[in-house]
Amino acid sequence: MSGLFGRDFLDVADFEAAELRRVLDLAHQIKAGTWSGRPLAGRHIAMLFQRPSHRTRVSFEVGISRLGGATTTLGEQDVQLGVRETVGDAARVLDRYVDGIVARLRTHADLTELADAAEKPVINALTDRSHPCQVLADLVTLEEVGGPLTAQKVVYVGDGNNIATSLIEASARLDFPLTVITPAGYAPDEAVVARARSLSRDGDRVTITSDLSDLDGATAIYTDVWTSMGQESERQSRRKIFAEYQVNPALMAGAPKAVFMHCLPAHRGEEVTDEVIDGPRSVVLQQAGNRLYAQMALMSELFGKGT
Ligand code: CP
Ligand code: NVA
Repeated sequence: MSGLFGRDFLDVADFEAAELRRVLDLAHQIKAGTWSGRPLAGRHIAMLFQRPSHRTRVSFEVGISRLGGATTTLGEQDVQLGVRETVGDAARVLDRYVDGIVARLRTHADLTELADAAEKPVINALTDRSHPCQVLADLVTLEEVGGPLTAQKVVYVGDGNNIATSLIEASARLDFPLTVITPAGYAPDEAVVARARSLSRDGDRVTITSDLSDLDGATAIYTDVWTSMGQESERQSRRKIFAEYQVNPALMAGAPKAVFMHCLPAHRGEEVTDEVIDGPRSVVLQQAGNRLYAQMALMSELFGKGT
């Protein structure tokens, strides 16, 4: 039985480098067709969504099915966490039915409460704080397009949001350089950065700046929406504040060797232009596709009976 069986995956930093490596290696094998186990046979996974989702919901459902398992997907109006019943009560009830929980909750605090109350393993399918499953798929993509992570330099441009947090933790754990460029006042949470710096094995790999000229040596330019789910009332003001941080052909010209990355969905014309997201350097669909393999690998380890 693997050392990851039964564990939660709430953040990238929850796993040591070797544990992340194990998941990434299995994801590559699944994609290559050299591993085709069904460790979820006879197992049932609950998925809870308090936010909309396309990629996450479909890739988890397909992945669970391919691994031999079954799933029940519950939307905002079903369980009504914290409204019809407390997060803890819902977790303890789900424990009686299912073998694992995948949850996209509005707040990270609710997710940790859910995971603390549930004995079954819980996977974070996005919170306001982090999106670790997305970044697992992004790491698979970076390795496919650029080889070893330590030979790459990722530059994230935009809002210091949940994607930025998970990238920062990945950089610290897997020891690749990451520059996060945000407008003043929108930098990632200082506690996230401080923790990543304390985890980093080989010193400080993360640079936080507002300087858009800091693209030297970038092998990937990554952006995400300026207005995340739950921040819709700020969209107009954010459009103005973030305007110069748009990833367009002029910005990409400053990083001639970089691929373009985005977790999707994109707000075209805001954080990225059509020329870039539809252009030859864009790997956004590869990222979306890799959600399936990364999450199959993760679930095999956490929910399965070992690989
Ligand atoms: N990237 C991502 O998580 O997409 P969805 O919100 O559509 O699941
Ligand atoms: N930062 C975005 C990611 C969506 C996948 C959001 O939280 O809405």
